[in-house]
Amino acid sequence: MQIWGVVNQKGGVGKTTTTVALGGIMAKQGKRVLMLDLDPQGSLTRYFGLSADESRNTTASLFDEPSALDIINSVRPTGEPDLSLIPGSAALSALERKKATTSGMGMAIQRALGLIANEFDVVLLDSPPVLGLLMVNVLAASDRLILPSQTEPLALEGLERMVRTLEMVKKSRGTAPPYLIVPTLHDKRTRAGKDCLAELRERYPHSLWRGAVPVDTLLREASRQQISPAQIGDPSRGLDAYTQLLADIDAGTECAQTPEKPGAWMAV
Ligand SMILES: Nc1ncnc2c1ncn2[C@@H]1O[C@H](COP(=O)(O)OP(=O)(O)O)[C@@H](O)[C@H]1O
Ligand SMILES: [Mg+2]
Repeated sequence: MQIWGVVNQKGGVGKTTTTVALGGIMAKQGKRVLMLDLDPQGSLTRYFGLSADESRNTTASLFDEPSALDIINSVRPTGEPDLSLIPGSAALSALERKKATTSGMGMAIQRALGLIANEFDVVLLDSPPVLGLLMVNVLAASDRLILPSQTEPLALEGLERMVRTLEMVKKSRGTAPPYLIVPTLHDKRTRAGKDCLAELRERYPHSLWRGAVPVDTLLREASRQQISPAQIGDPSRGLDAYTQLLADIDAGTECAQTPEKPGAWMAV
């Protein structure tokens, strides 16, 4: 089982959209995908028409030392084959106020997922934008981090905070999951969009995806219809971008440059 965390210390940058898009594509490719809504706002839960107000069998229950069966019972179908989720709940915000240091709570998600490691091929963790217990759990459980970042000046600050947090984690623990910054909501026709992408490429040459996810109203339409972008029937540049992102990660060619090999940025 592979665990991917989708994180950024900023809201509205495409974390939930990225979670659903990647999950939907991988499920369509035949992988058994589980998504966890760890954001107290419950966007991922509402995306699939579920309620985030229930208090039982949600991601908050994962912090109560559940059994494997308890966890399996929390898993809900999305209506798409091989794509399921554990919904979030309002109880997550109470958890968020607790200290990550109390009684190993920072490892709760990792521990819970360990119990169902044979049931899924990929788990995607949709993180809240706040550095608290929930995000600490995401960072601790993930094998790989995806950092969506809007190509807009204000979003770069949130991204910088996130990258600094990851550097701190690495210093204190000696290790941190590898992260890939994914430009999202990119509008190549605007000056701000172009300048931001150029700045990202200059600042993060070794951890930035070589492409970008464009602004695509079909992604919003998919969320309105409560389907993952993989189920959009029409040609979608947003879906194509996420499909390419996964292909790049599979092939190990996600960054245009690595210390060993200089590559090329995609024309976007
Ligand atoms: N590439 C995109 N094109 C158009 N709209 C997008 C795109 N990515 C995200 N959105 C929309 O932007 C809003 C914020 O995205 P969301 O994924 O909820 O961000 P976050 O989870 O980081 O808060 C949502 O309304 C979503 O539908
Ligand atoms: Mg979200």
